Amino acid sequence: MTPEHPIRVETHGRVGLITLNRPQQLNALNDALMDALGAALKSFDADPGIGAIVITGSDKAFAAGADIAAMADWSYMDVHLDNFITRNWETIREIRKPVLAAVAGYAMGGGCELALACDVIVAAESARFALPEVQLAMLPGAGGTQRLPRAIGKAKAMDMCLSARILDAAEADRYGLVSRVVPDAELLEHTLALAERIAAFSLPALMAIKESVNRAWESPLSEGILFERRALHARFASSDAHEGMHAFLVKRKPEFQHR
Ligand code: CAA
Repeated sequence: MTPEHPIRVETHGRVGLITLNRPQQLNALNDALMDALGAALKSFDADPGIGAIVITGSDKAFAAGADIAAMADWSYMDVHLDNFITRNWETIREIRKPVLAAVAGYAMGGGCELALACDVIVAAESARFALPEVQLAMLPGAGGTQRLPRAIGKAKAMDMCLSARILDAAEADRYGLVSRVVPDAELLEHTLALAERIAAFSLPALMAIKESVNRAWESPLSEGILFERRALHARFASSDAHEGMHAFLVKRKPEFQHR
């Protein structure tokens, strides 16, 4: 019997949609899935017809974490030599186009960490976020101990990591873990519409904005401001920026060439 492909890939206009597809395991993230996800992300990133990417799961689970069945018997040397996580989970950090997560149901452990690695998180009202690795005597090791405190602050992050506390969508929204919350029935339609709105803007401007906002996480303010200023100056080398400003002045819709 051929195993089901662990992801499904579609395009909607200028938006690439990736659906995690291991429903029996609540989209537990194993190597095959993370390899396929990384390849799909890279392929959309290289496609000039795509301006934004959406990652989603099922109604019940965005993803319930790293695949515990796969990991249970690994040794230190297995994961060290295989470069577990770094080898295929971090591909998402190389993606220059905006990546949106559409999250319904469980986003636990590695699933929560995958959402945190996206640029925008749209949560359905059913979404539940947790880093419950402590229950397995493990640790959130796919960026959770680093991205969560940057996203919601140390006090809330420590609470979640140390106690395995589960946040509902309203709490996640209040804490700033997600970008917006929508009814479950509207999740995919809403996220695709948002991605389509984003993808219609000038691609090099989107990439410069994403790169600059990410700098805010990774550098002192003075370095971040310098990076932002250089990125702003570089906008003046873009024909889309001149088109955008001139179109505004004559009150017409800009026609971006993504250059
Ligand atoms: N890995 C492997 N299989 C998983 C899984 C995971 N992370 N999460 C769920 N599954 C499997 C279950 O074993 C079960 O399989 P069977 O039907 O064969 O028994 C199936 O998915 C359905 O799960 P449940 O019966 O448990 O569903 P539920 O609705 O009762 O509970 C849940 C849902 C609360 C999310 C529960 O499944 C759960 O707690 N899952 C594990 C969450 C977790 O601990 N995640 C962290 C993983 S470690 C990690 O991610 C490390 C890292 O940082 C990289």
